[in-house]
Amino acid sequence: MTPPLASVPFEKLLDVASLRYRKSGITAWQFGRGKLRHDPLYRAVWERPELHRTGTLIDIGCGQGLILALFLAQQTLAPSSIEIPKLVGVETRPGIAQIARLAVSPPVEIISADIRHTPLPRSQTVLIFDVLHMMPAVDQESVLDAALTSLEVGGTLMLREADAAAGWRFRCVALANRLKALTRGYSSRDFHFRSKDEWLTVLERKGIQASAEPMSAGTPFGNVLFVGYKRPLAPGCSDRDEP
Ligand SMILES: C[S@@+](CC[C@H](N)C(=O)[O-])C[C@H]1O[C@@H](n2cnc3c(N)ncnc32)[C@H](O)[C@@H]1O
Repeated sequence: MTPPLASVPFEKLLDVASLRYRKSGITAWQFGRGKLRHDPLYRAVWERPELHRTGTLIDIGCGQGLILALFLAQQTLAPSSIEIPKLVGVETRPGIAQIARLAVSPPVEIISADIRHTPLPRSQTVLIFDVLHMMPAVDQESVLDAALTSLEVGGTLMLREADAAAGWRFRCVALANRLKALTRGYSSRDFHFRSKDEWLTVLERKGIQASAEPMSAGTPFGNVLFVGYKRPLAPGCSDRDEP
């Protein structure tokens, strides 16, 4: 684990991080700034010590790469404060991957590909935020399998998903996703949501011992952040058998 974070105020950090998106235009810049400011996920994850382990961190379905940009902002504002991990983002939409690349590469490696068909480096930390519900159950399993194959034993998985048992808050998530799909031209996409307990069961089955906390403060959404560790293998199993 690296030393504790230097005390750069998060508001300052997000301003500097989002400025990196100006190269891609006002929309990318303001979208990044708005997400970092108003979605509680980014501050909460940034403040977790697990995010700041050394080694390799992979952000799966990284979109514009907002978490990755926070690391670079930290380096700009307090260059000697932290040793940052090797950062990798994987994003399947080429246009969005290019926005991420323009903002954070180098030093961050942005891979424009589908995670399921891309060899990944061994990693100590894997992030999957708001990605899995966008696909059918069978694809969720294969994305998780690909991600967890790259994760070292003892490594950290951070996953944010909607909680399908969260009542009206869940219905807000489902509606927002449906509207986004309609306006962005992928309305036929097959979303699949699970409850918090169902996600914990899936993670347990895949060798991840996780806990869950609400991750939607200040929003109407029913989202949950899962943080888990990859358990050591059972005796007689090979690492490549996992999960
Ligand atoms: C809602 S966005 C979240 C972006 C980012 N994780 C964040 O928190 O800002 C989900 C992203 O996952 C990407 N994605 C979905 N399936 C993927 C896959 N199989 N491989 C790589 N990226 C994927 C989508 O293209 C989309 O940009």
